[in-house]
Amino acid sequence: MISPVEARSIDFSRTTITELMIPSYANFGGKIHGGILLSLMDKVAYACASRHSGAYCVTVSVDTVDFLKPVAVGELVSLKASINYVGNSSMVIGIKVISEDVKSGKYNHTNTSYFTMVAKDESDRPVAVPKLILESVTDLRRFVEAIYRRKLKDNYGSNLKNVKSHWEEENIHELLKDHRCINKVSL
Ligand SMILES: CC(C)(COP(=O)(O)OP(=O)(O)OC[C@H]1O[C@@H](n2cnc3c(N)ncnc32)[C@H](O)[C@@H]1OP(=O)(O)O)[C@@H](O)C(=O)NCCC(=O)NCCS
Repeated sequence: MISPVEARSIDFSRTTITELMIPSYANFGGKIHGGILLSLMDKVAYACASRHSGAYCVTVSVDTVDFLKPVAVGELVSLKASINYVGNSSMVIGIKVISEDVKSGKYNHTNTSYFTMVAKDESDRPVAVPKLILESVTDLRRFVEAIYRRKLKDNYGSNLKNVKSHWEEENIHELLKDHRCINKVSL
């Protein structure tokens, strides 16, 4: 049996994909659909996670996707992925998306997102991945940030559950007064 790799560097799985934005990716306004960018992000996350783990991986969670700038047909989009954190079978991949207008030489940072991927074995069960070797202050900062992001997400999940089960107990009239709706429902 091949012994599993104990640890890998971040450089081992660092991955960049560059793709030309073609007309079929665009909406009627000539801007690229957000779903196209999401699909590319999923691809680069897979490439990075499968390199690190040496295994088949699935996407489990995507942490915040905010598109900060539109991307136009004819631009080049580069997606830079690197591993920020590893758990037992899970890996957090940080992805930075940059669009480039080659004629003007202008670059835009369109978004940064974090994909959680899980490595699976032949029986489709989560399998342990190599530890991550942290070699720079940036590596360390990203690893620590991922730990805190996970904690914030856990808190968000339990707060949201609380809101869902107690929403009727809120002072709804007060809550809605600064929002743009006409409430015809009385509880
Ligand atoms: C996510 C999935 C792997 C969990 O499997 P499971 O048998 O319940 O295993 P576990 O509970 O041990 O979770 C495995 C790992 O996933 C992590 N995980 C599970 N749900 C998660 C979530 N919502 N966000 C972040 N991590 C999550 C766990 O923390 C665990 O990490 P660790 O091994 O590093 O500690 C499984 O539900 C699955 O395969 N989901 C479908 C994924 C998929 O098909 N994606 C493609 C999109 S269609």
